[in-house]
Amino acid sequence: MLTPQENERLTQIGAETPMGRLLRCYWYPIAAASELMRHPTKQVRILGEDLVLYRDGRGKLGLIGAYCAHRRAGMVYGIPESDGLRCPYHGWKYDADGRCTEQPFEETVRPDKKLKENIKLPSYPVEELGGLIFGYLGRQPAPLLPRWDLLVEENAWREVGYTTTGCNWLQSAENILDPVHVEWLHGVFRNFAADRTGRHERRRKRIRHVKIAFDLANYGIIKRRILEHETEDSDDWKIGHWLVFPCTQKGPDMLRFRVPVDATHTAQWYYSVHPLSDGERQTDAAIPLYDMPSPTLDEHGQPRVDQLDGDVDPQDNAIFVSQEPICDRTKETLGESDRGVVMYRHLLDLQMKLVEEGRDPMNVFRDAAANVRLDLPTESRERFLTGRLGPRARQSRRYRSILRVPA
Ligand code: FES
Ligand SMILES: [Fe+2]
Repeated sequence: MLTPQENERLTQIGAETPMGRLLRCYWYPIAAASELMRHPTKQVRILGEDLVLYRDGRGKLGLIGAYCAHRRAGMVYGIPESDGLRCPYHGWKYDADGRCTEQPFEETVRPDKKLKENIKLPSYPVEELGGLIFGYLGRQPAPLLPRWDLLVEENAWREVGYTTTGCNWLQSAENILDPVHVEWLHGVFRNFAADRTGRHERRRKRIRHVKIAFDLANYGIIKRRILEHETEDSDDWKIGHWLVFPCTQKGPDMLRFRVPVDATHTAQWYYSVHPLSDGERQTDAAIPLYDMPSPTLDEHGQPRVDQLDGDVDPQDNAIFVSQEPICDRTKETLGESDRGVVMYRHLLDLQMKLVEEGRDPMNVFRDAAANVRLDLPTESRERFLTGRLGPRARQSRRYRSILRVPA
């Protein structure tokens, strides 16, 4: 159980809060590269800031304040030019540093008046990697964008899912350190939902957890489990999988990025990677992007079981929302199953203190030679390499496609 102050310290993400300062030390996905191929601007809300991502006429990415300094038109309607983004309303233009570089009518009638000189919208670094576009909102100098193994995997087929969930970022991140929920939410509850919808083929055999453990490691926390009929020789126990600090999940074939949008919303990027067969190719433009459901109660206040009898992610999202926009941790009762959650809260606290002392927290990389490929060993890696996870995952495109891409 936490005090109200402790809960606030962990959940509030404003720029001047301890957690806001810690979370601003990291890069986060803000778009799939394919989105800017469909249209060169995108509205982005992240860490409580409203921004516009765009690609200019020369192909350079920019991330600047969402509203024009003139009369606050949305720059998402902006027109990309070779050296910036022009506001659609009266033509003021901004470069990637947010500086106003042109004010056509003002310059015509009052060339002597330097109205534009002190105008600067917020602006942030952007980088592209593995079919995703990442932004960094923290202090300069920006650290390197971490090259996690799956982001740089060659000969890979990728797909990207997205949703915004109406909950604080921490309850979605704490879920990564919660092995036992898999047995219940994705087992017993899933079967209950399948019985309600009549899709009995979706039922799964319940597999009980016998033992769980958590280890602090170089890139975050490793979660281990032994299920009934498994021994300590199993990959689930010997290798486990990761919470990559601060809030990303790493499994054998996926990274799930939890990205704080504001105090009560979290963007979730589901990045899946599978080996390509010989001769297959996939361009960034052809990476499928789909909407992942984030179910809430229906208009009668009842659960959307039709969205809850299958894949794990909608089930997780429904539960995150059910914990209220910001989970009240002053009223919880933690047990043995929550040892990973407790370890994670301590780790967050420690890392916030490092930032308060002016030091870099964990997973801030500044040495390019050490950032060629950051390996995150995970259970089932062998199955990933032999492609056994591939076909199953490729059939998973059952959600509404955001982008129409060639098959
Ligand atoms: S509102 Fe942007 S130029 Fe007028
Ligand atoms: Fe889950």
